[in-house]
Amino acid sequence: MTAPIRVLFVCLGNICRSPSAEGVFRNVVQQAGLDDRIIIDSCGTGDWHVGKAPDNRAIAAASLRGIDIAHLRARQFSSEDLDRFDHVLVMDRQNLADVRDVWRQNGGTEPVLFLHFGSSAHDEVPDPYYGGDHGFEHVLDLINDASEGLLQHIREQLA
Ligand code: 4NP
Repeated sequence: MTAPIRVLFVCLGNICRSPSAEGVFRNVVQQAGLDDRIIIDSCGTGDWHVGKAPDNRAIAAASLRGIDIAHLRARQFSSEDLDRFDHVLVMDRQNLADVRDVWRQNGGTEPVLFLHFGSSAHDEVPDPYYGGDHGFEHVLDLINDASEGLLQHIREQLA
C-alpha cells in the first residue's frame, strides 16, 4: 500500500476556519472509509490562539452538522509543514501570501487555495471571526463543498 496522503489546512488563527475544515474533511474521509490512508491536520499563520480550543461558534456550528471539533487545539504554521504535508490548503489570499513567502524560502509543498477544489464561484473562505453566526454556516457550506472535491482529487492520487 502507498504511504498515507498528508493534508494540512491553514488559516489565520486556527480557531475558526481551518479546524472546521479539519473536522469536516475528516468526516468526509471517514465516510469514504479512507481514514487510514489520509492524515489530516490544521494550523494558523498567527500565534495569538496557540493551545486554545476552536471558537465556541465554530464548535457549535460544526456540532449541528454532527461534527466534533471541540478537542482540537490551535498551533502555529511552521516552515517544516511544507516538508511534512502533501497538500497545504489555505483559506484566503492573505494566508496564501503568508505561506507562499515561507514556501519561496523553504521550498516543499506549494500552498493552494482550498476552494480551488470547490464547485462554487467563491475562491476564499471568508474570515467569520468578527461576524455573526451566519458566517460560520457559510464557512461550513464552502468547506463541505471543497472537501468533496479534495477527496475526489486524492482518490485519484491513491488509485
Ligand atoms: P480563523 O479566524 O483564521 O478562521 O481562525 C480568526 C481567528 C482569530 C483572529 C482572526 C481570525 N484574530 O484576529 O484573533
